[in-house]
Amino acid sequence: MNKKIAVIGAGNVGATTAMYLAEANFADVVMVDIIEGVPQGKGLDLTQAGPVRGYNASVLGSNKMADIKGADIVIMTAGLPRKPGMSREDLLNKNADIIKSVALAIKKYAPKSTVIVISNPLDLMTFHMQKVTGFPKNRVLGQAGVLDSTRMRTFISMELGVAMTDIQAMVLGGHGDTMVPLPRYTTVAGIPIKELIPADRIKAIAQRTAVGGGEIVKLLKTGSAYYAPAAAAVDMCRAIFNDEKKVLPASAYLTGQYGIKDIYIGVPVVLGANGVEKILELKLTKGESDSLKQSAKTYKEHLKIMGYK
Ligand code: LAC
Repeated sequence: MNKKIAVIGAGNVGATTAMYLAEANFADVVMVDIIEGVPQGKGLDLTQAGPVRGYNASVLGSNKMADIKGADIVIMTAGLPRKPGMSREDLLNKNADIIKSVALAIKKYAPKSTVIVISNPLDLMTFHMQKVTGFPKNRVLGQAGVLDSTRMRTFISMELGVAMTDIQAMVLGGHGDTMVPLPRYTTVAGIPIKELIPADRIKAIAQRTAVGGGEIVKLLKTGSAYYAPAAAAVDMCRAIFNDEKKVLPASAYLTGQYGIKDIYIGVPVVLGANGVEKILELKLTKGESDSLKQSAKTYKEHLKIMGYK
């Protein structure tokens, strides 16, 4: 295949992302990790699944960042995951160091790539990735909103017993407990959910969505979710690859939209070949807008801890 996607990290999120990418069959994959043998072993295993699963994409495992050379898209998954009781922000300093070293290598070996960050704390790590690579802001974005909204779609489908794929949901804000699920912009085959679900159940679904990652961490005990995060990243990858102009929520750099600037946070974007091609500004209620601004304020404080002004 003549297109190449690099996945950084061969842990649960990285390897699952590589698997979904191979199955999507639109590019070869290179998966890089510092642990010797693991990316090579998983890569070979995934490539060997191709004849049975019906794909021709290869997955090359490597310990060398130089092997991402020429990648069109880089998906950053490396970093420590949460353990029970930890917030995503507890991972701040350790993961910031990992992002920095990877970002420098991306800048060197894949200077034309679009970078999708999955490492937590998501919005802060995406900011850090953009700063260290110096890439245009439209070419660095974070995967969170697709995950948060797919969780909400799932819960609505479970509530109503209808097809998951009929449900469209919108979740904004930081990828953390301050995220802002937007039931007003959530529909089932075009029908607003408030026509179908009582208000107290909508509230409960929105609340379960906001702590959806934590629910999985509690169950797994040794790490965080990976199937849905990887699926979400591959959806974004496809939108960029096929220049789909797909509207989805992603962590993007704001320059005044929603009254917020100089920060990455989850908002609806148009995703195409040029990465984030547009940010859509929805009308928010005062409560929703206040939550979004509160997330932004917290992030600015965290960015200071990371050494940004
Ligand atoms: C989650 C982690 C991956 O939401 O942020 O599951």
